[in-house]
Amino acid sequence: MTSSSQTSRGSWGSKIAFIFAASGSAIGLGSIWRFPLMVGLNGGAIFVFVYILAVFFIGFPVMLAELTIGRHTQRNPVGAFKAIKPGTPWKLVGYMGVLTGIFILSYYSVVAGWAFGYFYKTLFGVFRGEVTWELSDRIFSTFAANPLEVLFCLFIIIGLTTFVISKGVKGGIERWSKILMPLLFALIIFLAIRALTLTGAGEGLAFYLKPDLTKLNPKVFFFAVGQAFFSLSLGMGTMMTYGSYISKRDNLVSSAGWVCFSTTLVAFLAGIIIFPTLSATNNLQGLKVGTGLMFQVFPLIISKLPGGYLFGLLFFVLLLVAALTSTISLLEVPTAFLVDEHNWPREKAAIFVGALSFLLGIPSALSNGAVTWATQANIMMKMDLIFGNIMLAVGGLFITLFLAYSWGITRALQEISFGNKSFRLKPLWIFNIKFLAPLAIILILVFIRILTQQ
Ligand code: PFF
Repeated sequence: MTSSSQTSRGSWGSKIAFIFAASGSAIGLGSIWRFPLMVGLNGGAIFVFVYILAVFFIGFPVMLAELTIGRHTQRNPVGAFKAIKPGTPWKLVGYMGVLTGIFILSYYSVVAGWAFGYFYKTLFGVFRGEVTWELSDRIFSTFAANPLEVLFCLFIIIGLTTFVISKGVKGGIERWSKILMPLLFALIIFLAIRALTLTGAGEGLAFYLKPDLTKLNPKVFFFAVGQAFFSLSLGMGTMMTYGSYISKRDNLVSSAGWVCFSTTLVAFLAGIIIFPTLSATNNLQGLKVGTGLMFQVFPLIISKLPGGYLFGLLFFVLLLVAALTSTISLLEVPTAFLVDEHNWPREKAAIFVGALSFLLGIPSALSNGAVTWATQANIMMKMDLIFGNIMLAVGGLFITLFLAYSWGITRALQEISFGNKSFRLKPLWIFNIKFLAPLAIILILVFIRILTQQ
């Protein structure tokens, strides 16, 4: 980040620097681990289709809304609502975002810990030679059920994230991620091509890309919208915080567009790897999709490459970096809140939130086979349902309502006009922010309430 003439707060060096940083937050386990899981649980291609619509009609408008509010107020989410509408309950939306961030960080770090575990397992040669589904499945189940090992991995991830945030060395990570993220992208394309050229890939590809309309139901919409919010880091003020560093010279619309596009592309490619690999290894039919899906499948495809050991190592390092750039953005929101609004020293704030997330993450860490009650209660998936789907969608709903009916579209458009002279999607954006996005989210939440009561 370089300082600019704007304020002492500083701004991203350029539009490209912002796109990289925001994509670093967005692209992570949400696209590579969670998206294929959601596709597997929600009927395959029909989910992919609804997800892409959700990104375009809800995710993109909400991202532009968050960036606009962030750049206008130059504050953390709580401060942003306070700045525009002082003395009103709108600040509660900011508080909700702060809390949601802490809870998401708790279980997200468990999965990031798995990526760390897979990195050292690959390093020690656990996946050398031909890897079958049975072997891969056994390695994952044994690992996820080992309480000490998963807690150790969780500790490492939260410790690293806390260190980066407390020392304010985020800039360094961002510089590194500028090199590593494109490398991850290249590797994913390469793996996707390998998966598509496996014999028997066709059936998996059809499951992934040929929609079966009979599988369409309100749950597909609910999870697709939740996935759009989760993967784009929306609904809890992360993008507001990132937007607060964008310069007035930069174009918010195209920046939002690029972040949505790159994230969706990575998620799409992750699915292209997972499902064809599953059918090519005869594991698609009758598959019980669970939280380990990505970790069970990637070793299979990596073992089908010459030099698989090195590719495996590279993949899990890059996955770890992608996960860390997201955990950093998750921890940044509550930390910035304590620093800006309560004058806490940065280090104390980061350690406090980090420690809290670690404690909250313990039940999720133990809910994949390590402890019976936690596993039976499916704690990790429940946390994900409540915070990753519902709370982000509720947050997104309030952000659209705030922008459209409290702050006002005209003022938002004025902010957007800095750095952007021709906003061609303007009528569509206004319609989506005022009507489509809030109505769709309300309908989805009501439906889900009815469905879960039945
Ligand atoms: N978007 C991140 C991912 O897909 O991995 C997760 C995330 C980060 C969600 C930051 C929400 C957030 F505010």
